[in-house]
Amino acid sequence: MKPLITITQVFPEKAIERLGQQFEVRYHGSGQSLSLEALGQATAESAGMVTYLSDKIDQSIIAQAQSLKIIANYGAGFNNIDVASARAKGIFVTNTPGVLHETTADFTWALILGTARCIIPADRFTREGKFHGWGAKLFLGHDVYGKTLGVIGCGEIGRAVARRATGFNMRVLYHQRNRLPESEEQLLGAEFVSLEQILSESDYLTVHVPLTDETKYMIGEKEIALMKPTAYLIHTARGKVVDDKALVSALKENRIAGAALDVFEDEPALTEGLTELDNCVILPHIGSASFDTRNTMAELVVDNIIDALEGRTPRTLVPGW
Ligand code: DGY
Repeated sequence: MKPLITITQVFPEKAIERLGQQFEVRYHGSGQSLSLEALGQATAESAGMVTYLSDKIDQSIIAQAQSLKIIANYGAGFNNIDVASARAKGIFVTNTPGVLHETTADFTWALILGTARCIIPADRFTREGKFHGWGAKLFLGHDVYGKTLGVIGCGEIGRAVARRATGFNMRVLYHQRNRLPESEEQLLGAEFVSLEQILSESDYLTVHVPLTDETKYMIGEKEIALMKPTAYLIHTARGKVVDDKALVSALKENRIAGAALDVFEDEPALTEGLTELDNCVILPHIGSASFDTRNTMAELVVDNIIDALEGRTPRTLVPGW
């Protein structure tokens, strides 16, 4: 009998076929997340699981594993998985670093430019037949070139975002727990600053830290209060790094210029008040959603599963495994 691989959500066909050449594949591609019960049962029966950020693989799920060798998360973030419990049972946990940062950086820049120049509300206005001629004050936005970009979390994605700022002749600040090597700072043209400084000096503040105990609600009421009234907050990392309620209040009172959110505290639920705001772009967690990148991520997931089931250590174990 071939080992069973469960894929809990929609996955690229080519990657499914590749898994099917070696394994029995159970594919749940309806677009709905598995119930907790179904997730537990899949964990009990499978040798490998392809999981998503919407699958909460906690200790109670992991406890049901019998011959599970690998949980291969389809994404760079892995805060949905209790890594310590998996490790304690000898189950590998992998993610997909190194293949989605450029795409996510492109997307972050789309949000920076899109919010700064009111692209989405202006499109809505035009479609609604409200464009009756050129107006000197129609959808005035803010410039991006020459301004200050603040990058919170200078990992792969943050660095790729910072690199792109060169073309816009921006001052680049960054903040994270540890300072980058000087050579890297020089390459990026980025200056290491405190959280207070990045909050108070950035015109565009973009968040790229993973969700951990340390980063939970890192940007809350107090931090937002330090931002300039003309600043924009771009968030493509993980809900709960930003306190959405505090952000909604600040946006309602125009205490900052605007925000673009690709992630939410309790996604897919939206924080109350968000949809009523004109100064906020809200998107359905699509940071890495390009055809090429999603395929490459899937190939890496398959590589990891094959490695684990053929007795090798998978190539992209999550940090801390
Ligand atoms: C990621 O790769 O972490 C994306 O947010 C999807 O999980």
